[in-house]
Amino acid sequence: MCRLTVVASWLCAAVLSMLFFQVKAEALSAFMLSDSCPPGFELTAKNQCRLVNFYQLYDSVQGRGVGGTQTSLPKHRDGFSPQQIDLGRILFFDPALSKDGSMSCASCHQPDKGFSDGLGRSKGFDGRQLTRSAPSLWNVAFLDKFYWDARASTLEEQAVGPLFDANEMANSPEQLLETLNGNSAYLTLFKQTYPLRSQIDLDQVVSALTAFQSSLISLNSRYDRYAHGYHEALNKNEIAGLNVFRSFVARCAECHQPPLFTNNQIAVIGVPEKDGRPLDIGAQKTYQAAKLRGGFKVPTLRNIVKTKPYMHAGNFDDLRETVGFYNKGRGHAIPEGETLQIHWHIWEPNLTEHEMDLIVEFLGTLTDEAFTPKVPETVPSGLSPVDDNYQKLHKNNNQKLLSRAGD
Ligand code: HEC
Ligand code: HEC
Repeated sequence: MCRLTVVASWLCAAVLSMLFFQVKAEALSAFMLSDSCPPGFELTAKNQCRLVNFYQLYDSVQGRGVGGTQTSLPKHRDGFSPQQIDLGRILFFDPALSKDGSMSCASCHQPDKGFSDGLGRSKGFDGRQLTRSAPSLWNVAFLDKFYWDARASTLEEQAVGPLFDANEMANSPEQLLETLNGNSAYLTLFKQTYPLRSQIDLDQVVSALTAFQSSLISLNSRYDRYAHGYHEALNKNEIAGLNVFRSFVARCAECHQPPLFTNNQIAVIGVPEKDGRPLDIGAQKTYQAAKLRGGFKVPTLRNIVKTKPYMHAGNFDDLRETVGFYNKGRGHAIPEGETLQIHWHIWEPNLTEHEMDLIVEFLGTLTDEAFTPKVPETVPSGLSPVDDNYQKLHKNNNQKLLSRAGD
C-alpha cells in the first residue's frame, strides 16, 4: 500500500512508524509496574505498603473471649513495595511459570472462585488429580502455617511447592530462571523492583509472589461493618446466626475465630476421604505426632460462599451440608478401623434445622471481594493469563507453545 508516489510513500512511512511506536509504547506500558499501593494499604516514605484497617484500633485477642467482635488481628506480612506487589501479580497469572506453559498459580487459585478452583481435588500438570482441594488465598498475609497439613511456615517456602512439584506446575528452578531471564520484559520489571543483580533469581520470584499474595485482604464484609458497630449491616437472621456460630453450643468460633475466622491451628475433626480413598493422615506427617492423625489446618471462612466444594477433600457441595457434618456427632464419619483423637470442641451440639440454616445465612455475610486484584490483560510470556475456562486456556497455550517451538 506504500507504493504510490515519493511523497505518499514518505507520508506512509511516517504513519507506519508512528503506528509502530504506538504499538511498542502500548506493549511497554502493558508491563509498567504500579507505583501506588493496592487499596487498603498506604504508601510510606520508604516506598513500602502498610496495611490499614479498623481492626488495628482494637487491642489484643487475649482477654476478649472467643467470638468477640472487636478483637485485633494476629501479626501479618506487609511492607512490600508497590512494584513488588504488582510484579507478583503478573507472575501469579503467567503460565510461563509452569513447565509447559499450561498453568499459572491462578489456574487453581482463581479470583472469581475466592482464589480457589471449584474442584474437590485440584488438577495439576497434564490433568493429574491432586489429593486435596485448593484453599482460598484471601488474608494469607495473617497466616503462619500453610497447606492443609501446615507443612510450610512462610509464603516463600510454600510457593516453591507448586512451582516444582511434578504433579502441579512441574517446573524446575533451572528452567524457570532460564525462562524469566530469557524474557526482556521480565528482566526490565525485575530490575525496576529489586536491587540490580546480574540475573533474576528464585528469591526474587518468590518474594514478588509473596508480596502479591499478602495484598489479598478481605476484611470489609457486612460482618465487619457490624463488628465495627454498624448494627444495621446484618439482618435479624444473620445476627441470630452469628450468635449460634459463636455460642458454646455450636462452638464454631472456638476454631473459626473472628476476625479471620480461623485460629490458624490444627484440629482433628474427622473428615473422611471421598470415594473410598484411604485416610489422609494430614498433620500427623508434618509433626510426626500420632494425635494429629487426620488433623488439618482450620480454614478461614472468609468468602466461604465462593469456595465450594468444602473441606480438604471437597466433601460437601454446599454450606448447609458442611454445617450438618458438625451436627451428626463426634467422629461419626471416621473410617472403620481408624482411631482418631477428635478435638474436644467437636461434639454433638444438637442444633435444630433452623439454627443450622441461620449459621449458613451468617456465613453469607463474610463475603468481601472489593480488593480483588485485576487479572492482567497480557503477561510478558505472551501466553493467556488464566480465564474461567481452564480447559480452553490449556489448549490455547499449548498451541501457542507448539507453534513457537516450530518457529
Ligand atoms: C495445580 C493446582 C495448583 C497450582 C497450579 C497452585 N496451587 Fe496453590 N494450592 C493448591 C492446592 C491443592 C493446595 C493445598 C495443598 C495441600 O494442602 O497439600 C494449595 C495451597 C496453596 C497455599 C496455602 C494456603 C493455605 O491457606 O494454607 C498457597 C499460599 C498457595 N497454594 C499459593 C500458590 C502459588 C503462589 C502458586 C503458584 C506459584 C500456586 N499456589 C499454584 C493447588 C495449586
Ligand atoms: C475443633 C475445631 C473446629 C470447630 C469447633 C469447627 N470447625 Fe469448621 N473446620 C475445622 C477444620 C480443621 C476444618 C477443615 C477440615 C478438613 O478439611 O478435613 C473445618 C472446615 C470447615 C468448613 C469448610 C471450609 C473450607 O474452606 O472448605 C466450614 C464451612 C466449617 N468448617 C464451618 C464450621 C462451623 C459452622 C462450625 C460450627 C458448627 C465449625 N466449623 C466448627 C475446625 C473446626
